[in-house]
Amino acid sequence: MTSNDLAAVMAIENEAQTSPWGVSAFQSSLMAQDVMPVAESAGKVVGFAVMKCASDQAELLTLAVLASCRRQGVAKHLLRFLSDEAKKRQVTAMFLEVRVSNEKAQSLYSGEGFYRIGLRKNYYPTPTGAREDALLYRKDL
Ligand SMILES: CC(C)(COP(=O)(O)OP(=O)(O)OC[C@H]1O[C@@H](n2cnc3c(N)ncnc32)[C@H](O)[C@@H]1OP(=O)(O)O)[C@@H](O)C(=O)NCCC(=O)NCCS
Repeated sequence: MTSNDLAAVMAIENEAQTSPWGVSAFQSSLMAQDVMPVAESAGKVVGFAVMKCASDQAELLTLAVLASCRRQGVAKHLLRFLSDEAKKRQVTAMFLEVRVSNEKAQSLYSGEGFYRIGLRKNYYPTPTGAREDALLYRKDL
């Protein structure tokens, strides 16, 4: 991802996420040199991910695919790229959080070798003002 991708990334983020990141969050990740692959189809951004590496651990911060391009393996491809990139950086474990209601993403992560290690109560905001639990996942590299 570069700053030139941010308009397309923000359009996907706003469509995909219950609590979307603002553009400044992506800019901060670009500044921090986080691992930020974009998936493209016919020259158009159709998905992206952001992963922060620190020492021997990495955290997947966000991942989304354009609604019209889902169920075509784009997210799997992005996760495999991130795993490979993490291994190159001597990362031994990847972590992520996901909403308990997000069964699609949980199925994606389980299929890509992540396993559940815990739960954070009331971690996410919801549109109704209530809170939602997060499931924590880990993948050993
Ligand atoms: C979750 C998301 C990233 C999946 O992207 P995708 O490119 O459609 O996923 P893939 O095509 O690579 O599918 C990989 C696996 O995810 C799971 N999956 C994806 N969509 C699913 C659906 N609609 N129903 C059930 N499982 C689903 C399946 O296990 C699938 O493997 P399979 O195709 O072999 O069954 C996408 O739906 C999305 O952007 N959702 C909104 C944002 C989001 O939830 N991000 C994750 C936050 S933690």
